[in-house]
Amino acid sequence: MDTNKTILCVGLVCIDLKTIVQTYPLEDSGQRTLDTIKERGGNASNTATVLSSIGCNVEFLGTVADCENINFLRSDCSEYGINIENCAVCPKTKCPLSVVIINTENGSRTILHSNKSLRELKCEDFMKLDLKKYKWIHFEGRPNRDEIYLMMNHVRKYNNSVDDEDKIVISLEIEKIRPVLLDDLIELADYTFLSKDYARYLDYDDMTSCVKGMSDEKGKTIFCAWGEQGAAAKNPDGPIVTSKAFKPPQVKDTTGAGDTFIAGCIYSLCRNLSLGNCIEIGCRLAGAKCGIMGLKDIHSVKKIILNKIDNFKLDYKTY
Ligand SMILES: Nc1ncnc2c1ncn2[C@@H]1O[C@H](COP(=O)(O)OP(=O)(O)O)[C@@H](O)[C@H]1O
Ligand SMILES: *[C@@H]1O[C@H](CO)[C@@H](O)[C@H](O)[C@H]1NC(C)=O
Ligand SMILES: *[C@@H]1O[C@H](CO)[C@@H](O)[C@H](O)[C@H]1NC(C)=O
Ligand SMILES: *[C@@H]1O[C@H](CO)[C@@H](O)[C@H](O)[C@H]1NC(C)=O
Ligand SMILES: *[C@@H]1O[C@H](CO)[C@@H](O)[C@H](O)[C@H]1NC(C)=O
Ligand SMILES: *[C@@H]1O[C@H](CO)[C@@H](O)[C@H](O)[C@H]1NC(C)=O
Repeated sequence: MDTNKTILCVGLVCIDLKTIVQTYPLEDSGQRTLDTIKERGGNASNTATVLSSIGCNVEFLGTVADCENINFLRSDCSEYGINIENCAVCPKTKCPLSVVIINTENGSRTILHSNKSLRELKCEDFMKLDLKKYKWIHFEGRPNRDEIYLMMNHVRKYNNSVDDEDKIVISLEIEKIRPVLLDDLIELADYTFLSKDYARYLDYDDMTSCVKGMSDEKGKTIFCAWGEQGAAAKNPDGPIVTSKAFKPPQVKDTTGAGDTFIAGCIYSLCRNLSLGNCIEIGCRLAGAKCGIMGLKDIHSVKKIILNKIDNFKLDYKTY
């Protein structure tokens, strides 16, 4: 795979207003907070941030409201080197915003999300892309399921029409329990990342039975991250692999840990690491993320991750 080609992340970008508190607030009380910071958030946008911070060429595609926050989003993406030129700018609406309460006692994050009217991305928006630029497209499974289905099919058709070196790999994230069933999108993706909540919704009690059951059922590679327990993955024709979580010295902020895990896995998959090594890199990166506030310092762990990947490669050679 041409490592210089672009990874495209398709999904939501929003504003996160993170309020950092010493202890979780009581209702109808007043208290001082340690800090409040404004960040770019949204799951696909977070994954794009991490991929770009560890050295990938990245583009983000989603809808963006033409409100006062658009300038903040533009300059923030430009700071991280994330291309947003193909985003659909929507007039007369407000940017979705999440108020996130970060409890410094254990880094827990409570998310209060608001979105009044920003529309979801349509396949029509996606059709404007020149697919030749991309080696990988990551989709955030959102309520626009039918549109995502069309986008994925469009990529699959493209895949069938080009030479091997130009083919595009598809990954999918299913985070929330959504009223629409996202399940059948899994069949169109090469790799699917299921959240703990979604696994439970499918009646799985743990990450290993989830990846086993779902990869058997769909014949696809499935990943499942499970907070402090780490993560599991399975190829349809391989064994279940697991990784422990890597605890930072102090858990400061777990927002975006799942998105960071996904970025670590995509990065490693692009480098042809074994599935077990991929989830270990994902967990190491996500663990490091939990030890820092926000994502802005995630580039500081890039070197550690790259060294680890080199070690894995040396290990392969000794076999
Ligand atoms: N407290 C923690 N300490 C270390 N690593 C963590 C912690 N919480 C999450 N992680 C890492 O992040 C990954 C994703 O965690 P998860 O809870 O599924 O994320 P999210 O809540 O963002 O969906 C886990 O596989 C784990 O490697
Ligand atoms: C993004 O991921 C988090 C977990 O990491 C999840 O709780 C949240 O619902 C997701 N956000 C959206 C808008 O889907
Ligand atoms: C963090 O601590 C609070 C109590 O202070 C608890 O309710 C919550 O479950 C903890 N969260 C995590 C992720 O450990
Ligand atoms: C925002 O809300 C609208 C109206 O409820 C909904 O249709 C849409 O899916 C949401 N969009 C985003 C980007 O979350
Ligand atoms: C696209 O092609 C690549 C390379 O042959 C293959 O690995 C992948 O499964 C294809 N992806 C889709 C979604 O068709
Ligand atoms: C990964 O494997 C593919 C297919 O075998 C190959 O084309 C590509 O160069 C490899 N990439 C890396 C970074 O090793």
